[in-house]
Amino acid sequence: MDLLNRIDEVRAQLQNDIQQVGADPQAAENLRIKYLGKKGLISVLFADFNSIPAEQKPQIGRVLNILKKDAEARIQALSEKLKATSSQDEFFDYSLPGLTPAVGHLHPITQTLNRVIAIFREIGFVVEFGPEVETDYNNFQALNFADDHPARDMQDTFFIDEKRLLRTHTSPIQIRTMLKKKPPIRILAPGRVYRNEAINPRSHCVFHQVEGLYVDENVTFSELKTTLEVFAWRFFGADVKTRFRPGFFPFTEPSAEMDISCFICAGKGCRLCKYTGWLEILGCGMVDPNVFKNVGIDPEKYTGYAFGMGIDRTALLKYGIGDIRLYFDGDVRFLEQF
Ligand code: PHE
Repeated sequence: MDLLNRIDEVRAQLQNDIQQVGADPQAAENLRIKYLGKKGLISVLFADFNSIPAEQKPQIGRVLNILKKDAEARIQALSEKLKATSSQDEFFDYSLPGLTPAVGHLHPITQTLNRVIAIFREIGFVVEFGPEVETDYNNFQALNFADDHPARDMQDTFFIDEKRLLRTHTSPIQIRTMLKKKPPIRILAPGRVYRNEAINPRSHCVFHQVEGLYVDENVTFSELKTTLEVFAWRFFGADVKTRFRPGFFPFTEPSAEMDISCFICAGKGCRLCKYTGWLEILGCGMVDPNVFKNVGIDPEKYTGYAFGMGIDRTALLKYGIGDIRLYFDGDVRFLEQF
């Protein structure tokens, strides 16, 4: 039989063999030996090629080379395909424990805020929010800060321009709420506040407050006191004692600061309470009539109380955290503890 016909025959046979291959990963190697091995069918064709007349060599040589290249490529492809499918059939132990995905949780500040909110919600307070970029009017002027009040000083306030600033407390939310709602008003306003202060273990230029405001007819200071006492017992525990000291805020009159007995030393005096036995946790007071006038509420008819509590320090006390800067580092070794 002439060489060209034998080449055709080997090509057809290869085609046939490839189609018949099952899933045995050895099959590709067997085919490689059968066709391309030393004594393989194609190698034999090459051996016979040497003895054909020289003038036939260029044409038949080309056909023969194409067959060889084609066979190599197809056997290689077959081998890869068999390997890929066979690895899926490898033994898999379905009883192995799965990979547990890491689950995040709320930041300790958020958890503390949520607890404060939950306690006040039970007695009818609703949550209000305000923007962190505020007007000088809402942050200071409407809250009865005199034009030359030291809190407006560049040292405390981050000004954006003449009229806008980063709010220095959550009290502007009092103004925003009273401008859009009529009494009775009973709101709780959590949020981030900013003050241009040196960053150290006890203070930061960014922190969080919760503002409370209650406006209605006949709201009294004793209601304020009772509400905050009940809050302190629920938040810090029933043995905690409270005391109110006179204070000053431009937007409340009279004003007070509330302390709780140190829960580390139970009032005996320790490092946390600086040996005073007391920890200061919030500022409060009766809404100043000037503030009511600024928002168009009749101070003859209505009275109200307000309070503002720092959350970061409260959480610091509650969880016994030694450094306020840890809140913002985003270090999971710290955050995972809460
Ligand atoms: N806004 C005050 C502060 O940041 C706290 C405060 C709020 C005091 C409401 C009285 C009433 O210090």
